[in-house]
Amino acid sequence: METTRGKLIEILSNHPDQYLSGQKLSEQLNISRPAVWKHMKELEKDGYGIEAAPRKGYKIVNYPDKVSENTLSWGLNTAWLGQEMIHKQSVTSTQLIAHQEAQLGAAHGTLIIADEQTRGRGRLNRTWHSQKGDGIWMSMILRPKFEPHKSPQITLLAATVLAEVFKKHCGIAPQIKWPNDILTEGKKLSGILTELQAEHDQINYIVLGIGINVNHSSDQFPEDLKDQATSLKVETGQEWELKSLIQNLLSTFEKRYEEFVEEGFRSVKLRWEAFGYRIGEYVTITTHQHEWNALIMGIEHDGALKVRDEDGKEHVLYSAEIKW
Ligand code: BTN
Repeated sequence: METTRGKLIEILSNHPDQYLSGQKLSEQLNISRPAVWKHMKELEKDGYGIEAAPRKGYKIVNYPDKVSENTLSWGLNTAWLGQEMIHKQSVTSTQLIAHQEAQLGAAHGTLIIADEQTRGRGRLNRTWHSQKGDGIWMSMILRPKFEPHKSPQITLLAATVLAEVFKKHCGIAPQIKWPNDILTEGKKLSGILTELQAEHDQINYIVLGIGINVNHSSDQFPEDLKDQATSLKVETGQEWELKSLIQNLLSTFEKRYEEFVEEGFRSVKLRWEAFGYRIGEYVTITTHQHEWNALIMGIEHDGALKVRDEDGKEHVLYSAEIKW
């Protein structure tokens, strides 16, 4: 964390049981004492508990759960993902802002995150319910060097990262419904929306949007979603702190993204299949107005769905309507 406020948090956090004087802090940060005091007030606004004792100085007694650029940056263990970040309380859609920022030249790894979206977008022009404070609604700007036809693989990669983190961080058993819905017990926990800007054979940028239902109770979902949607809280019976979950997602995504760039899709494919929903089971598929039954086998080396029909013939599907 490079900002003065970031350094201030770092210094105070390194001395948890000790007051640090305004004088000492001003020398270490190379700012005036009134400026130190002003930063302390800003930290309080961000939800930090600051104890100030006359003639002794300051110490942090409480760290906030609240999501903000500051709270997310402190303790974020990434080299590029989320190093540039825009946090807003309320937006129409983080996708929209990410596109605007990307067109203005925002760096690879820039993160847009909001407490609430008033017009959250889902796949296939659906809306995405994005209630205030209860979920994670974020979009990342990626500027990969690979060819545009590989961009759907990024979506599958993101799905495996979400499943991996939900399993490790929250102890649940998520499944990925092809291509990229994250489910638990057959209900949707999280969705991914990948939007691409490319020219000729080059990706200009990708906006990768991720929505996660975290602290919703089941009665907080709109009527039409109640049977289909779930949250981490519903699945685990406990509330989850958003900040550390987001930090965990970002650092895992960065690690897996770099592996993918260096080694290709192979490791993503294996991980995806380990979480794959209804692999080895029959589903009903509709292609060109024709309904047929097929066994889900897994995914191909490029992320397409591999199935076997009832006559034993294998098919590779890039899009299909599937009755799960
Ligand atoms: C889906 O239909 O499953 C994809 C849902 C993607 C929702 C996320 S929330 C953050 C980002 N902003 C949006 O408007 N949509 C994506």
